[in-house]
Amino acid sequence: MDVNPPRVIAIASGKGGVGKSFLTLNLAEALARMGQRVVVLDADFGLANLHLLAGSEPEHTISDVLSGQCSIQQALIEGPQGVHIIPGGRSNPDIAELGSQRIAGLIQAVDQMVDEIDYLLIDTSGGLSPTDLQLIRAAGEVLVVVTPDPVTQVDAADYIRTLRQHCDVQHFGILTNMTRRQREGHLLTEALQERLGFDQDLVLRHCGQVPYDQDIDRSPECYQPLQQTRPEARAARSLQMLAETLNRRRISTPAAGGMTFFLEQTVSVGGM
Ligand SMILES: Nc1ncnc2c1ncn2[C@@H]1O[C@H](COP(=O)(O)OP(=O)(O)OP(=O)(O)O)[C@@H](O)[C@H]1O
Ligand SMILES: [Mg+2]
Repeated sequence: MDVNPPRVIAIASGKGGVGKSFLTLNLAEALARMGQRVVVLDADFGLANLHLLAGSEPEHTISDVLSGQCSIQQALIEGPQGVHIIPGGRSNPDIAELGSQRIAGLIQAVDQMVDEIDYLLIDTSGGLSPTDLQLIRAAGEVLVVVTPDPVTQVDAADYIRTLRQHCDVQHFGILTNMTRRQREGHLLTEALQERLGFDQDLVLRHCGQVPYDQDIDRSPECYQPLQQTRPEARAARSLQMLAETLNRRRISTPAAGGMTFFLEQTVSVGGM
């Protein structure tokens, strides 16, 4: 039987607080509703919060997997629509930055699930930490979240430039969040392209625009997929469209071999 390798998508941003975790969870839920088997890795290893979305404190976290106390399957918690979440660490400065050996261990663990998943979404911690850079370098596809905030746009340009230079990423999906006008996402992407200047190998593709929604509750306990709380909201429809767009077309073509690729790329980076 021909098994498609899972798609590994890192959700990233230069500046924090732009909605990565919110978008990751909602995207995961929308993909799962479309019949895809989705695992989310909460790669905020110091102050993880995605498990709150599943409404429970996890029995195990990624740190237990990395220290050999449990298998990755034992650490998985079930979120909405059967999405599985690998909980990140909480308040554990020891693993906030993972060395390359631990990253290799993490990816080997994820690699064991290769036949059971269609998507691995990585909710990165944001910025240019070595751990984030390694995970982004290893993921087949990168989705950069940008908002209309001018600071975010400057940061996004610097961030993309850095990933282009140091991680050899050439194709970026742009996801615009908290927009307030129609087509604002396209305009932001064009402005970003302009800011980055001419580079024939650099490709930005606007994958979706999620409007600002004042009713999205800002308390983390209320982190629930919009589809479950307010399916009629414009933001919920945008998230659905985003999932359909991504499911139709890749942001970039992976070099080879799904997770094995993920593993090899990451291990070969080394040096931490
Ligand atoms: N489209 C939106 N409209 C209104 N509020 C939003 C929207 N998207 C996200 N938010 C809110 O913005 C806040 C930040 O979101 P979130 O925690 O997902 O950002 P983040 O990029 O993961 O942050 P960090 O870098 O700290 O991990 C949250 O309170 C979230 O509910
Ligand atoms: Mg987050």
